[in-house]
Amino acid sequence: MNKVKVELCMGSSCFARGNSKALENIESYIKENHLEDFVELEGHLCLGNCKNGPNIKINGISFEGLDPDCLVDLVERELNK
Ligand code: FES
Repeated sequence: MNKVKVELCMGSSCFARGNSKALENIESYIKENHLEDFVELEGHLCLGNCKNGPNIKINGISFEGLDPDCLVDLVERELNK
């Protein structure tokens, strides 16, 4: 299994636009599947790209306007690549 780094913008705009839900989703997924050693979570202050938020990076690749319900699927895909 690969390791995945997920960086979430925790600035107020991204947080309100979906990253609070995305964070909840990914934290439960990690816990339920015991993936603490495989998924690294990092939060950022505003990345200066609010109008295209919510902003998330997965293994350095930027996703703009990401639906919070899609994050787990994307992470799962990276883990199993
Ligand atoms: S709050 Fe995320 S880019 Fe500004």
